[in-house]
Amino acid sequence: MSHFNESASSWDSPEKITMMKNLARKVIDIYPDIFSKDKKYDIMDFGAGTGLFGLEFLDFAKSLTAVDTSEAMLDELKSKTKERQDVFTYNIDLESTNLDKSFDIILSSMAFHHLQSPESVMLKFKAMLNPNGKILIIDLCKEDGSFHPDNDKMGVKHHGFAEQEVKKWASHTNMNLNYSIINEIEKNHQIYQQFLAVVDKN
Ligand SMILES: C[S@@+](CC[C@H](N)C(=O)[O-])C[C@H]1O[C@@H](n2cnc3c(N)ncnc32)[C@H](O)[C@@H]1O
Repeated sequence: MSHFNESASSWDSPEKITMMKNLARKVIDIYPDIFSKDKKYDIMDFGAGTGLFGLEFLDFAKSLTAVDTSEAMLDELKSKTKERQDVFTYNIDLESTNLDKSFDIILSSMAFHHLQSPESVMLKFKAMLNPNGKILIIDLCKEDGSFHPDNDKMGVKHHGFAEQEVKKWASHTNMNLNYSIINEIEKNHQIYQQFLAVVDKN
């Protein structure tokens, strides 16, 4: 069984819930022009997991599409959104499958370091983006490999990303990038930084 299927039922710790809520709040505060009260969007949360990050954007959603390779993580998300008609889940791997849908906003938090080829997924995102659409990616900045207790078991393919790598995803896919450091996580007696990449094709 995959790491995420194994840990889905215990994923939502109080610390993670608080951290993801705060992170989503920061994104909403930094981009009031995107997340204004009178706008509604078709949103995809890629690598949505149990929805800790993506579900925080429901107030801005015409629809929220959660994509994840772990069925058990998506089951947790579904259990939180049973009453909603505007939340959809897809248990697929976007690296090897296509999703014939388009979105105004594509969100992703802490999923890109699990990808074989982040740049190829960015290209797929570009093709799925509606006019004036935005891609918002949060992940770890380059780290020494100590963030996850077991990189292999947890399916970690990248020890975070240097700013230069993120810039390459944007330039190689011919999109614009706004890069910032959005958060710091204290763990293992050190500080790990997280970046926010806002990418568009305008
Ligand atoms: C660290 S969790 C983050 C979950 C959630 N975004 C959050 O911030 O709480 C990473 C998630 O990405 C998913 N994932 C990994 N590789 C994926 C892929 N190729 N396509 C879709 N989801 C993937 C995992 O199953 C897992 O649920």
